[in-house]
Amino acid sequence: MTEIKIFCPATIANLNCGFDVLGLCLEGIGDEMIIRKVAEKGIRITKITGADLPLETEKNVAGVAALALLKATQSDFGFEIEIHKKIKAGSGIGSSSASAAGAVFGINELLGRPFTRHELVEFAMKGEVVASGSEHADNVAPCLLGGFTLVRGYNPLDVIRMESPSEIYAVVLHPHIEVKTSDSRAVLSPTIALKDAITQWGNLGGLIAGLYSKDYGLIGRSLQDVIIEPLRKKLILNFDQVKNSAHDAGALGAGISGAGPSIFALCKGQNSAEEVAFAMSNSYLDTGIPFDIHVSRVNAEGVRIK
Ligand code: HSE
Repeated sequence: MTEIKIFCPATIANLNCGFDVLGLCLEGIGDEMIIRKVAEKGIRITKITGADLPLETEKNVAGVAALALLKATQSDFGFEIEIHKKIKAGSGIGSSSASAAGAVFGINELLGRPFTRHELVEFAMKGEVVASGSEHADNVAPCLLGGFTLVRGYNPLDVIRMESPSEIYAVVLHPHIEVKTSDSRAVLSPTIALKDAITQWGNLGGLIAGLYSKDYGLIGRSLQDVIIEPLRKKLILNFDQVKNSAHDAGALGAGISGAGPSIFALCKGQNSAEEVAFAMSNSYLDTGIPFDIHVSRVNAEGVRIK
């Protein structure tokens, strides 16, 4: 095999109570990449469609992640990467992570899988630095592993692929405005109050317990964010209205997807998710900003060969 076409799914990071540690993988929304094994050593980005991104390997998220992987192997050949972006940059659903994860997944396949999907997270994370200025794995982990993931620790990296009930659906409202992750991180406070930390880690434990025990009530009660959301929501027009409409329509919970501006909701079952999507769309309409709305099952597989 010398060429591979892959599907790189979008992801929702943070999930309210798990800033920089929780994420889930979406179905249906994602980029396409073609990776080719070539005689010339190194990594070259040969084509990008759907986005205005740098072709220079060292400035491109996929290129940097691919270089990190290549450095860890003794490869006598190189790789060309074509990126066909469908996930808009700065959308809050893991656009840069999809490219980083896709690059390392594809190259690993062409090398005969020297690394596990878990091991690839570390390489993909290097690409994330280019996009956001910080190494976080809460988008690349679910993109590579599928399902819900937890980054238990960063030093050393310890990523857990979690159990979750099969009936969970995600709704994502994506306003067509760009919020740079670095800008969205700049509004955060470096310190937090102990009482907020207690609320947040109580919810984080509750959400994980709810996912494992399939307790939808517990999942819903735990989908709260008292630390990040109050600071970031001012970047998102009509955020409170959209969130409240999701709750009123029966969502388990709702919040900011990743660094925003997308707003997500989790629901029990597809019918509920469709109703929530309708309600969220209605409450965003008066902003006048164009948007997409997606209803997606949790993608258990993650990045895959197309
Ligand atoms: N956890 C990250 C953030 C995800 O919220 O800034 C965005 O890449």
